[in-house]
Amino acid sequence: MRQPLATHPDIADLGEAARSFALVQSAYKYMNDVALTETEVINRTAIRIANGRVASALPAEVRQIALTVVVDEAYHALVARDFIAAVHRSTGIEPLPLPSETELSLAIEQVHGELDPALHDDFDVVAICIAENTLTKEIVELSRDSELATPFLEALQDHLADEAMHAAFFQRVLATHWQALTDERRAALAAVLPSFVTHYLNVEIQRGFDASILRALGLDETKVQSVVDDLHGGFRLTPRHPMLASILAMFERVGVFALGPARDAFRASGLLS
Ligand SMILES: [Fe+2]
Ligand SMILES: [Fe+2]
Repeated sequence: MRQPLATHPDIADLGEAARSFALVQSAYKYMNDVALTETEVINRTAIRIANGRVASALPAEVRQIALTVVVDEAYHALVARDFIAAVHRSTGIEPLPLPSETELSLAIEQVHGELDPALHDDFDVVAICIAENTLTKEIVELSRDSELATPFLEALQDHLADEAMHAAFFQRVLATHWQALTDERRAALAAVLPSFVTHYLNVEIQRGFDASILRALGLDETKVQSVVDDLHGGFRLTPRHPMLASILAMFERVGVFALGPARDAFRASGLLS
């Protein structure tokens, strides 16, 4: 299950209403993350690709498909926010304050701070190609979880059909883009990719949100911290992390590792064995 909070013994002890509360809040956060990511991260750069503003000058056909991505993602954001409103109406459960950033948006911001602004567009293309492949895997896994409530599952399956196409499209974009970069640009991007992936896959925002659910359920601060540690304390980003493994496999497949020093950069950071 995606939200282990709901099966933690301390939450189970609080009864079914507490378990539902934790699951509904987690669904709110998931859908809000979708809405933020689609509008502020994926679409921001998909629009720049569509308008030919990235250095790799992708062909007109690719730019046109990027526009269809923009339409899809705006629709996904709309459905996600509608889902939150509908569940709020039917359950009466008020959403806790939802994070205004995601691990992905913070990871991109972090890299922007380290990178020459002239490289930001080139980096953003790589970042969304990575995100559009990892997020799809996450949705596939979620939609296979038969324990999930039906409306949540329906919303996911609709999204999944689009994301399967996006994943293939962005692999193609990444292959073309990486090849079109100069050696110098590839080296500069390769140097920041391990740090980007590390920030992207960290669990700090999820930890903070899980803690806010536990506080809302009336747990005292000591208990909150001990449950959060049970859930996330064992987190380590190693080469065996499934999303990291799938990102690295994609780099291999689309040629990122074949051109330039990206493979060496991941080895040096301990993320690739
Ligand atoms: Fe989407
Ligand atoms: Fe997408």
